[in-house]
Amino acid sequence: MAIKLTSYEKEMLEGKHGYPVQMGMQIQVQMGQIYYAEKMIPVSSVHMVNASAIMSGEAVIKLVEKMVKHGGKFKIPTTLNPAALDYECWQEMGFSQEIYAAQIRLTNAYKALGAIPSHSCTPYLFGFSPKFGEHVAWGESSAVNYVNSVIGARTNREGGPAALAAALTGLVPAYGYHLDQNRKGNYLVHVGIELKKVADYGALGYYVGQIVGGGIPVFTGIPRDVPAYKLKMLAGALASSGSVALFHVEGVTPEALTMDDVFNRQKPVQVIEYGQKEKEDAVRCLNKNQKEEIKVIVIGCPHTDIVEIKEVADRLQGKKIKDGIEFWVETSLPIKELARRCGFTDTIQAAGARVVVDTCPVHCFEQEFTKRKGFTALATNSAKLAHYVPGMWSVPTYFGNLEQCIHAAMTGNF
Ligand code: F3S
Repeated sequence: MAIKLTSYEKEMLEGKHGYPVQMGMQIQVQMGQIYYAEKMIPVSSVHMVNASAIMSGEAVIKLVEKMVKHGGKFKIPTTLNPAALDYECWQEMGFSQEIYAAQIRLTNAYKALGAIPSHSCTPYLFGFSPKFGEHVAWGESSAVNYVNSVIGARTNREGGPAALAAALTGLVPAYGYHLDQNRKGNYLVHVGIELKKVADYGALGYYVGQIVGGGIPVFTGIPRDVPAYKLKMLAGALASSGSVALFHVEGVTPEALTMDDVFNRQKPVQVIEYGQKEKEDAVRCLNKNQKEEIKVIVIGCPHTDIVEIKEVADRLQGKKIKDGIEFWVETSLPIKELARRCGFTDTIQAAGARVVVDTCPVHCFEQEFTKRKGFTALATNSAKLAHYVPGMWSVPTYFGNLEQCIHAAMTGNF
């Protein structure tokens, strides 16, 4: 069945509203045909995943610049995912002039189209949060999973070209997680142990993501007062070992108020028991091939909120990081400013650590950079980061809780 377009949408497709809109519409119509969408629906915001010059490469930079040359303008608020460097102190941190030049081109081209250069994967923490039921077009797997699940907004995992097309047209094809019938749970996960630390939520997400792949897990046994930043970590991990874009937590997330409703009165395809053994399996899996000395510790994947930065500052108070080790606390620019006002950045810097903005290892590491910096091994409390960094950048990774990471910063050992 062909997708039905309004007369205005047909004009967009025919090029009557300019080349960038036409190109965007062509992408959306093709996507709609692949996924049997019946119509287009308006979206209220975009989060653009292709925002790092390293990850995007020259072809994407040229495409975005081409849209600018042809007079393209984003129709809806569009935030940007992490860049390839920290704009505030890229030279001090050892990023190359070449990467800076490429990143400036990409960010400037997006800005010319109307994007907000937020360069963070947690824009929902600082003013760009959709409402329950709102249709958006977001990329970045952890952000997609968070806004779908914790907020109850509606988005598919929009890759670079599809997100660009959504920003240029303000439309997406109506398929996938935009539709009620595709938002019900199909795996039941009984959490039988107490989850205390942020890293515990990462280990849980990592374990479950491996089993459910692209399914929709429904968790029971997670306390009703779980703070949002721990669900942020769960969202990131589920979307890294699996491709989970929506999960539910009984009595916590907005579409899981009753189990009958969340499963649409169907039986789950599998029931997963998560206890101490499963947690240990996940932690073991994330701590492979560790022979090298830890040279960099990274907290804040996904980017931290102010509560997490406070905890790091409290734990670093009066301590000193070992010479030769870097300690990054990753966040967004607005949250860093708040941390500065609270005095947390001073405490963190006094210990020899750094609050890093705009970027993260997945988006800024490259072989040349890690070699130059001498990053032989990385330690983190993020299951997502521990999953990606060894494969992408050949840097062995240690995964554990914040206390273990701080111990590593003091000693070089986990
Ligand atoms: Fe965010 Fe980078 Fe982690 S984009 S979720 S900090 S890998």
